[in-house]
Amino acid sequence: GYDVSKLLKQTGAVTFDPGFMNTAATTSAITYIDGDAGILRYRGYPIDQLAEHSSFLEVSYLLIYGNLPSPAELEAFDQKIRRHTLLHEELKGFFNGFPRDAHPMPVLSSAVSALSTFYQDSLDPFDDEQVELSTIRLMAKLPVIAAYAHKKSIGQALLYPDNSMNLVENFMRLCFGLPAEPYELDPDMAKALDLLLILHADHEQNCSTSTVRLVGSSNANMFASISAGINALFGPLHGGANEAVLNMLRQIQSSGTKPEDFMEKVKNKEAGVRLMGFGHRVYKNYDPRARIIKATAHDILGKLGGNDELLDIAMRLEEKALADDYFIERKLYPNVDFYTGLIYKAMGFPEKMFTVLFAIGRLPGWIAQWREMIKDPDTKIGRPRQLYTGELERQYPAR
Ligand code: ACO
Repeated sequence: GYDVSKLLKQTGAVTFDPGFMNTAATTSAITYIDGDAGILRYRGYPIDQLAEHSSFLEVSYLLIYGNLPSPAELEAFDQKIRRHTLLHEELKGFFNGFPRDAHPMPVLSSAVSALSTFYQDSLDPFDDEQVELSTIRLMAKLPVIAAYAHKKSIGQALLYPDNSMNLVENFMRLCFGLPAEPYELDPDMAKALDLLLILHADHEQNCSTSTVRLVGSSNANMFASISAGINALFGPLHGGANEAVLNMLRQIQSSGTKPEDFMEKVKNKEAGVRLMGFGHRVYKNYDPRARIIKATAHDILGKLGGNDELLDIAMRLEEKALADDYFIERKLYPNVDFYTGLIYKAMGFPEKMFTVLFAIGRLPGWIAQWREMIKDPDTKIGRPRQLYTGELERQYPAR
């Protein structure tokens, strides 16, 4: 309803771009996406090659330091992370302060924010050694915090990390292990979780990553910046879609609706029903991450004993959508979230933990982007302009 070009002139601003749909805020050498071609590469390596050959730890190293590690470099990285998993006992006390039914995402962001108070020796963004120490501390402690948030929400005791295990194995034990019982790791589950974390590890300037960079542009420390990113990820339009997919599939199952009838509702735009897990702001082709998950979903769910009926509904919906003009014309394809919820559920995670798992996966991306931002001589404090539409000037009334 406003004359934007007039407002632009008034303000002296040059572009009006809500949601930054067409504005590059930075250069970056970390992640390459071609949304039309369905391509995703970390540091030049195609995501499907990394998914096949790499581990989450190795991909984290690649994103943060720029190159694949040698075996010795990977071993050193792994060992450093294992040595930093313990949380200060007083920080553990925080978990008693939240209500039992607290969502684990705000618990995670609060505890990550609190790391600035416990680890004051690694807060200087311009001291390389301190940045390195913060990097290792976050990689080691964030999964532990995430597991504790889960344990508290189900009323179980917190376990100490077992540093004979790697990051992913340790996380699983902290989530599912019990105090007086030995934990038997399911290698299929560990491998599946590792793969899902790789697929979420970075996605260039998405909402949470842009938040990390914006907060960091004021020279806020890494803990503070990443805590802000976790809060951005908490929003249902960003990190919560996999939960919505699972709810949609369950609803279709329990109401006995035929997938084709549900599709008609979506196409007729009945009461805002969308096919959750379909469509993406950047991908106008098959999301390459969804392709990888789809290829392994049956296999993983078969091994983990997941809900095959829900998977069948999902595959029927996808099959119908890919052959339907509505979806073809709008270039709507499955995104990464279409199959992940089913797999997380089969692993035994409650729905509230789905976004937390996304955060663990995205952590190396956030760290890499924060470090790139801090070293970039072109970084300026983020400070967008606005087009003012309020009253121009008013006189305070005489009383
Ligand atoms: N189901 C049905 N129709 C859809 C869907 C969908 N999932 N997504 C988009 N459309 C339609 C819209 O109704 C619109 O149709 P119209 O032109 O007739 O009005 C057209 O496609 C374009 O949609 P926009 O909302 O303009 O596309 P945008 O790029 O802004 O939205 C988004 C992308 C938010 C992901 C959208 O596709 C959506 O809501 N998807 C479902 C939620 C989801 O899966 N989110 C996860 C994203 S991935 C991630 O965060 C990891």
